[in-house]
Amino acid sequence: MARTSETERSEKEQNQAWDFGRFAQTLAFFETVPFLGNVSQWRAWLAPFLPPESLAIASPSQGTVLVIGATGNLGRRVVKLLLKQNYRVKALVRSHDRAAAIFNLKALAPGLGERLTLVIGDVTQSETLPPDLFDGVDAVISCLGAIVRPANPENREANYSQGTTYYEPAVIEATPEQVEYHGVQHLLERAQASQFPQANSHGIMDFRASNPHLAALWGALDDVVMGGVSQSGLRILPNTALFTGTVSTANSGGFVSIRTKNLEPPLDLSPYEGVQIRLKGDGQRYKFFLRDFPAWDGVGYACSFDTVADQWQTITIPFADLIPVFRAKRATQAPAFNPASVYSLQLMLSKFEYDGALNPHFQTGSFSLELEEITAYPERPWPRWIMVSSAGVTRPGTPEAETDPRPIVRLSEQLGGILTWKFRGEELIRHSQIPYTIIRPTALTEEPGQQPLIMAQGDTLAGKVSRDDVAQLCVQALQWPQATDKTLEIAQGDGGIVPQDWERGLELLPRD
Ligand SMILES: NC(=O)c1ccc[n+]([C@@H]2O[C@H](COP(=O)([O-])OP(=O)(O)OC[C@H]3O[C@@H](n4cnc5c(N)ncnc54)[C@H](OP(=O)(O)O)[C@@H]3O)[C@@H](O)[C@H]2O)c1
Repeated sequence: MARTSETERSEKEQNQAWDFGRFAQTLAFFETVPFLGNVSQWRAWLAPFLPPESLAIASPSQGTVLVIGATGNLGRRVVKLLLKQNYRVKALVRSHDRAAAIFNLKALAPGLGERLTLVIGDVTQSETLPPDLFDGVDAVISCLGAIVRPANPENREANYSQGTTYYEPAVIEATPEQVEYHGVQHLLERAQASQFPQANSHGIMDFRASNPHLAALWGALDDVVMGGVSQSGLRILPNTALFTGTVSTANSGGFVSIRTKNLEPPLDLSPYEGVQIRLKGDGQRYKFFLRDFPAWDGVGYACSFDTVADQWQTITIPFADLIPVFRAKRATQAPAFNPASVYSLQLMLSKFEYDGALNPHFQTGSFSLELEEITAYPERPWPRWIMVSSAGVTRPGTPEAETDPRPIVRLSEQLGGILTWKFRGEELIRHSQIPYTIIRPTALTEEPGQQPLIMAQGDTLAGKVSRDDVAQLCVQALQWPQATDKTLEIAQGDGGIVPQDWERGLELLPRD
């Protein structure tokens, strides 16, 4: 009996009224019947999300580097090294006179003077930062830090020995919160308002902007085109968009999707390695498609991805992983995907994977996929923001803090939470979309450089490191794509990596 009623129900599901009206609407939306012009009319408002004509990320060699904290003990070394290596330097300083003395401006060798520009500003007061601070800047090296000096003013000059000789320290001038956190925030605001290379990724669709045009660009493409009854659509919410509806296997259907109209001209994503989608799903497996040909019913290039219910995720889809598919079957004879002409994007929830295999997480009924952004990410970007932070930043407030071998960890609270604010400044950079390298030195010294360096992750490294070597590493890392999106601690020591192999050492560290 049970089997019979099951069969009856299933038959009922198999035969439901098909909605011809929705079928016709779908065809009209995608211009398979003449209806609307192509998407060039949306080009203007899409423009902010589209890649610029040329996105090739060139080596910043001999480009312009903005050095923040340029008159600091580390920053001045960085400036001198950059000039020596033929970069142009924009130096953010608080005092022109002090900078002129430190860089001996009057006596700079011919050629060097023209390549060094001093820019006056205080990072704690955003209004003092010039609006064009990042104009023409190819990369940033930040040696910024709240000023910590021996508490006893008579010992201030002895600061250089910090790390080898202990002096009771104190924060003088602005607080770590103001410098290490709000200062970084102000700088990022300036960078983001300029042409400064923002990203190791580039926006294609920004659903956070609550743009009503997006609803007109994305249309439902459900199994109604094959007689099914599933229904879906894209709803524009205040800060996201929601791909939602109900999926049913009735009438041999079983898929819902949203797809863009054809983009004219197509997107050139050839400088990129793949796309990333920021989304929150419902635990089901979805598919993402790109098409490199304008035909409505042609081969699509697909990749499946699993969502975790109610959790924001960044799904990475390398172009190399896209499978050519025609009506849920692998198109084995199709050419490789051509990222130089992307005509449309599509998101799908389907009962099927490929070649008849079932989607293991598929469920009929309502579904929901919330979308924040679709971006393209480039191949091996160069780090554009080298940030000098500090070893120990993750430790204050942990049970091990009291026994941490690094004095700064125990002193952090007394110094206005310096490490905690440095860590929060790091987080701003990590989440900024700017390709970065965060270098966390152990105690800085005035000892000679060219030492073997231990490079580590996990924030347990203790010891000391020469400022000369930190400066050298910062400048060299500008040229190493494999340094991008990495955070590392450094200390000099036996068994460390000799300077000629630093690049390889950095390459071996995993990205954040
Ligand atoms: N010392 C150590 O043992 C140690 C260990 C690990 C990490 N670090 C970190 O390494 C970095 C460099 O260290 P360092 O010894 O070179 O430090 P530093 O000599 O104190 O230099 C700090 C730089 O930040 C600048 N600065 C501070 N407040 C500013 C503001 N409000 N606006 C604009 N610039 C401001 C200073 O400008 P002025 O030149 O005008 O003062 C200075 O150039 C810092 O982040 C430090 O925290 C230090």
